[in-house]
Amino acid sequence: MTGTGGGDASFTGSIAEIYDALLVPMIFEEPARLLAASVAATDAADILETAAGTGALTRALARLGGHDIVATDLNEPMVVAAARRSVSERVRWQVADAQNLPFPDRSFDVVACQFGAMFLPDKVHGYAEALRVLRPGGMFAFNVWDRIENNTVPWIITEALCAAAPDEPLEFFRRTPYGYFDIDQIRGELATAGFEETSGQYIDGSSHATAQTAAVAFCQGTPLRGEIERHPTLDLESATTIAATALREHYGSEAFDAPIRWLQLTARRPTGRS
Ligand SMILES: C[S@@+](CC[C@H](N)C(=O)[O-])C[C@H]1O[C@@H](n2cnc3c(N)ncnc32)[C@H](O)[C@@H]1O
Repeated sequence: MTGTGGGDASFTGSIAEIYDALLVPMIFEEPARLLAASVAATDAADILETAAGTGALTRALARLGGHDIVATDLNEPMVVAAARRSVSERVRWQVADAQNLPFPDRSFDVVACQFGAMFLPDKVHGYAEALRVLRPGGMFAFNVWDRIENNTVPWIITEALCAAAPDEPLEFFRRTPYGYFDIDQIRGELATAGFEETSGQYIDGSSHATAQTAAVAFCQGTPLRGEIERHPTLDLESATTIAATALREHYGSEAFDAPIRWLQLTARRPTGRS
């Protein structure tokens, strides 16, 4: 796994635009709605969102109403794409590393993070940062993808690309976004960081797309794009064609629904912690 700011965490350049236009409607809006619902159950006034990307969860949180939201992300192009279509004047956008948050201790009632934890090189450190900026009793609400075999589209794409280039396999999805899903491991890391009352549930949903759109979204709108561009035998066009062909063989040429599965968690900062 590469470090913060490069490689697997590098949502930069045109990735941000393609991510926002194609991938967000495909797989991020349904989990965002459900994660926001877990925040709605609290009486939070101040929400910090980390790894906010182009704002899928931010918009769902803003729709709840009644909160001030500071939405942050490591990569400026994601924040710029998000701020362009911000929905509420109660949302403030800022570039920030979730492992080194530029906020004082005990500043927020809720820290929320959609599909960002997997990208943190040091999970316990990242969780401890979330805990530090939470007020006592505050809630950390986040989600991570389940294993890649339960998220069929990136699985089919990964299998096809690895078969096409077995000597230099393109393993970004398996390694990072779909590589951190063990609930016992995550609960243990949250406890090590100081959280209590952790709970989590796996949730099944579905994505809707055509083979071509999904291939462009996953190959060109994620950091897999950088891995492809550095590849010795594949390039962006050939990799996207391989992905689209594999999806078409599985689902046909018409728009299709495919299963997605993720783990949604909440944890609380103890009230007694100094
Ligand atoms: C899969 S995207 C999720 C974005 C957004 N939450 C959504 O639901 O669309 C992962 C995001 O994590 C961000 N990220 C990666 N490492 C980070 C870090 N150390 N601190 C903050 N954000 C980070 C990336 O820039 C990217 O926007």
